[in-house]
Amino acid sequence: MSQRSCLSIILAAGEGTRMKSAVPKVLHTIAGLPMVAHVVKAAEAAGSGDLALVIGHGADEMRKGALKFAPKAEAFIQEKRLGTAHAVLAARAAISKGYDDILVMFGDTPLIDPEALAAARLKLAEGAAVVVVGFRTENPSGYGRLIEKAGKLVAIREEKDCSDEEKKITFCNGGLMAVAGRHALKLLDQVGSKNAKGEYYLTDIVEIAAAQRLDVVATEASFENALGINNRAELAQAEGIWQARRRQEAMLSGVTLIAPETVFFSHDTEIGADTIVEPNVWFGPGVKIATGAKIHAFSHIEGAIIASNCDVGPFARLRPGADLRTKAKVGNFCEVKQAIVEEGAKVNHLTYIGDARIGAGANIGAGTITCNYDGYSKFFTDIGEGAFIGSNSSLVAPVSIGKGGYIASGSVITESVPDDALAFGRARQRTLPGKGKELRERFASISAARKKG
Ligand code: UD1
Ligand code: CA
Repeated sequence: MSQRSCLSIILAAGEGTRMKSAVPKVLHTIAGLPMVAHVVKAAEAAGSGDLALVIGHGADEMRKGALKFAPKAEAFIQEKRLGTAHAVLAARAAISKGYDDILVMFGDTPLIDPEALAAARLKLAEGAAVVVVGFRTENPSGYGRLIEKAGKLVAIREEKDCSDEEKKITFCNGGLMAVAGRHALKLLDQVGSKNAKGEYYLTDIVEIAAAQRLDVVATEASFENALGINNRAELAQAEGIWQARRRQEAMLSGVTLIAPETVFFSHDTEIGADTIVEPNVWFGPGVKIATGAKIHAFSHIEGAIIASNCDVGPFARLRPGADLRTKAKVGNFCEVKQAIVEEGAKVNHLTYIGDARIGAGANIGAGTITCNYDGYSKFFTDIGEGAFIGSNSSLVAPVSIGKGGYIASGSVITESVPDDALAFGRARQRTLPGKGKELRERFASISAARKKG
C-alpha cells in the first residue's frame, strides 16, 4: 500500500447554516478537536499522502483554523457551491499532479474510520477504478442509495432522484470514495447536473465508470463513517459516539472507569494503566496521566501532567501547566495552575496554587493561596522541599519559602523565608480574662433598655 501515492481531498465548502453559528461548521469540535481535524487525522492514519482542502469563498477563518491542524494541506477555493463533483474539481491542480489513489472525504463527517479508508485503497490496489464506502441502515432517508445489478455496483442515486422502489434500498453511500488517480479527472469531467438539485454530483462517477466497464466496487463500513454533522444535535450525537469508543479503549487498556458514561476525554488524553477514574470527571485537552493514579469524582482537568500514583480530587481543578510529580496529592476544592507539585507533596484542601513550585514532601494547609497576580503581572512562589504551610496562609508572590520552612497558620507572607525558619505573618493575639462576660452583660442591658423605651 505504502508504495502507492495518494491524494486525500477533504470537502468543506458547505455553509453549515443549520449550526446557527458564527464559527464555520467544520471547526466545531468533537472531543476538543475541530471536526475537520478528525478527518485529517483519519486520512493520515490511512496513509493519506498529500492533502487538499476544499473550502468556500471568503472562508478565511476556516482556512486558518483548518490549516492549523493540517499545515501541509493545500487549500482550494470552490467559488460557487455547485455540488460534490464540482467541489472535488476545485482541487483539479492537485489531482492532475498524478496520484495512484484519490480519496474523497467530507469535512463534516468526523467519525470516519481509517480502516474503512485503508480498505477502500486496497480495492484500488487490486484494480478498481472507483470504490464507494457504503453502510446499511434501517432509516436511509437523505442518503444516496447504492444501486446494484447482479451483485455489482452500477449507480448511486440521490434520494431526490430515486424511484419509490429505489427508495426502499437500505445500502447507502457513506460519502467516502476512493478513485484511481489515472481515471479521476476523466470521470469527473463527464459529470453533468441533470438531476433534482441541478448539482454536479460526485456520486455520478459510479454510473459513468460502470458504463465504461471500469471496475466499480462497494465496500461496507459502519454507520458512524457516514455520520454527517449538520446541526448541534448531530454534533452531540457524534461526541457521544466518540466518547463511548474512547472509554471502551481506556478500559481495555487497563484504566478503571467506575461510571464510564460520566467520564469525558479529549482527543489527546493519555492515561496509563491502573489509573482509577471515579464518576463525573472531565479531561480537557493536553492531559497526560501515568500509571496508578486516582482521579476522584467531579474533577476538572486540562493541560495537566499527572505522574504515577498521584491522587487528585474529589472536586479538584487542574489547569494548564499543572505538573504533578510521583505520588503528589491535590485534594478537594483545590485549583492548581502553571505549577509543579513535586514528589509526595500534598495540597489537600481548599487551596489555590498558581505560578509556583511546591517542593517534594511539602505540606500545604487548607485555604492556602498563592497571591500570584496584581491585576497586571504574574509572580512566582517557590516552596522548598518539606516545607509546611499552615492553614489559611496567603503567600504574596514573588516570594520563596526555604526547605523545611514553617509558616504559621493565618499568615500573610510578603518576604521570603529561609530554610528551616519559622515565620509568623499575622497580628499577635491579645486575650483579656473575664472581658467576654463583661461585654455580654453590657450588650444585654443596652438591648433590654431599647425594648422598654
Ligand atoms: C452526500 C452524497 C450522498 C451521501 C451523503 C452521505 C453526493 C451528491 N451525495 O449527500 O450520496 O449519502 O453525502 O452523507 O455526493 N460540499 C462542498 N461543495 C459543494 C457541495 C458539497 O464542499 O458544492 C461539501 C459539503 O460541505 C459537505 C460534503 O461536501 O461536507 C457533502 O455535501 P452535502 O451537501 O452534505 O451532501 P449530501 O446531500 O449529504
Ligand atoms: Ca451531508
